[in-house]
Formats: sequence, structure tokens, C-alpha cells
Amino acid sequence: MKPQEFRRIVILTGAGISAESGIPTFRDKGGLWEKYRIEDVATPEAFRKDPAFVLEFYNRRRRDLLKVKPNAAHYALARLEREYPGEVLLVTQNVDDLHERAGSRRIIHMHGELLKVRCEGCGHVFKTEEDILTTTPCPSCGKKGTLRPHVVWFGEMPFHLEEIWQALQGCDLFLAVGTSGTVYPAAGFVEIARRAGAWCVELNLEPSAVADLFHEHHYGPATKVVPAFVEGLLQRSKNFDTG
Ligand code: APR
Repeated sequence: MKPQEFRRIVILTGAGISAESGIPTFRDKGGLWEKYRIEDVATPEAFRKDPAFVLEFYNRRRRDLLKVKPNAAHYALARLEREYPGEVLLVTQNVDDLHERAGSRRIIHMHGELLKVRCEGCGHVFKTEEDILTTTPCPSCGKKGTLRPHVVWFGEMPFHLEEIWQALQGCDLFLAVGTSGTVYPAAGFVEIARRAGAWCVELNLEPSAVADLFHEHHYGPATKVVPAFVEGLLQRSKNFDTG
């Protein structure tokens, strides 16, 4: 690892960090995009064409999410945020809430959240663990047929990009965990961070599509490589503290 103290850390996580909790990834063997076509369930056009089908896809994923638990990798990143003497910001592409359940607090969900629903009529966003049907009324405006998952679909703009960009510009350590590096803009974050002078580390099961852009790589299951990497960072930060 690069011999310097890191003051600001940005961590990008993807589906790989939640895989060992039992949530299937998108592009691995047996992944979600082998069973469903993106254009049938994850675009605004799909929702317009068959809202009941799209809502049911997300209802099922929401129900599945309520059955699983955070794993050692989620807990390690929460511990890093708590114990690291510098700033730690988590940017996740995941729509699950496993980082929060593990204790992470500074977190940006750039692709939205499965446990939130939005009214396309009045813009109201609310938390729910319940199924959403085409007949479910918006709790704010009372209209029916206007509720949709508060997730970012293909062809839509990810959330909080300006804030993320600022954080990437100012970070000196960038970590990418469990992401295939195939979906932009997230796949391009390493380039922004690297250009801003950050040390870039990839923690993944296998080299991602943008692996060459990272300075350092640790390959293996997230529940092994993430806690080990976090432990190393925390140990080093103690040495810096005590001179
Ligand atoms: N530990 C670490 N990494 C893992 C593990 C594991 N146990 N299991 C799988 N991985 C890695 C895979 O090797 C792969 O590189 O996680 C990555 C998962 O890649 P994707 O399925 O493409 O998921 P992600 O990168 O999060 O996808 C980005 O695509 O469809 C969209 O909106 C969706 O946010 C998602 C975006």
C-alpha cells in the first residue's frame, strides 16, 4: 500500500458486496440479468408498458431483501467510518439497505433505494416494506397508479452526482468494492479519483472491466478481503496518530 496518510476516503460499492448476504448480483453466472431482460424491468419504457410486471419485480426483490442480513464486509466498512481518523464517504450502487443495517451513516445511494417509493404525480418519496400495486394510493396526494420504486432505471440520471463528483475530486484514497465496472457513470469514478491524485484500490472477486486503472488490487470474496483491508488501514492510521 502507498506509504502515506489518507485523509479522505471514498468507497464505491456494488452488488458483489451483498452477494454473500444472499442477494444475487446482476452480471455473474445466475445473476439477475440472466433471468430478466433489463428492457423488461429496469427502464422507464418498461414501466410505462407493463407497470404491474415491473412493480412485482421490485416487490419480490423488496421481500427478499427483508429476509437477508449484512455480512462481514458491510460491517467492516461501517467500522472504518466509525474508527478512521479521516473522512469516509460510502457511495453505493446498491439499492439494498445492508450498509445502513451494518451501521454506515455517511452513505449516498446513487441508484436509489428498494425500501423507498416515489409518486410520479406529486414527487413524494416515502419508506415502505410493503408491496406496491398499480392500485396503491400515494399516501401524500391520494392518487392511484402513480407510485414507482425510488430506484434509478437505465436511461435515468443517477442521484447526487454533483456531491459524488466533489467528493471524488477531494479524496486521496478511492476504493471500489464488488462492482464489475461496466455501468457508467460509476465505472468512471476511478478515473476521476485517479486524476485528482487519489490512490485507487480495487477489492473484488475478480478483475473488473476497469481493473487497469487501479493502483492496487485485492481479489477474493468481499467478506474476506474487505475486513482484512480495513484492518490494515486502521492499524496504519494508529501508527500515524502516535507518530
Ligand atoms: N465478493 C466480492 N465481489 C464479488 C462477489 C463477492 N462475494 N461476488 C461477485 N462479486 C463481483 C463480481 O465479480 C462482479 O465484478 O461483484 C461484481 C458484480 O458486478 P455486477 O453484477 O455487474 O454488479 P454492479 O457492478 O453493482 O452493477 C452495477 O448495474 O444493473 C445495474 O443498477 C444495477 O447498480 C447496478 C449496476
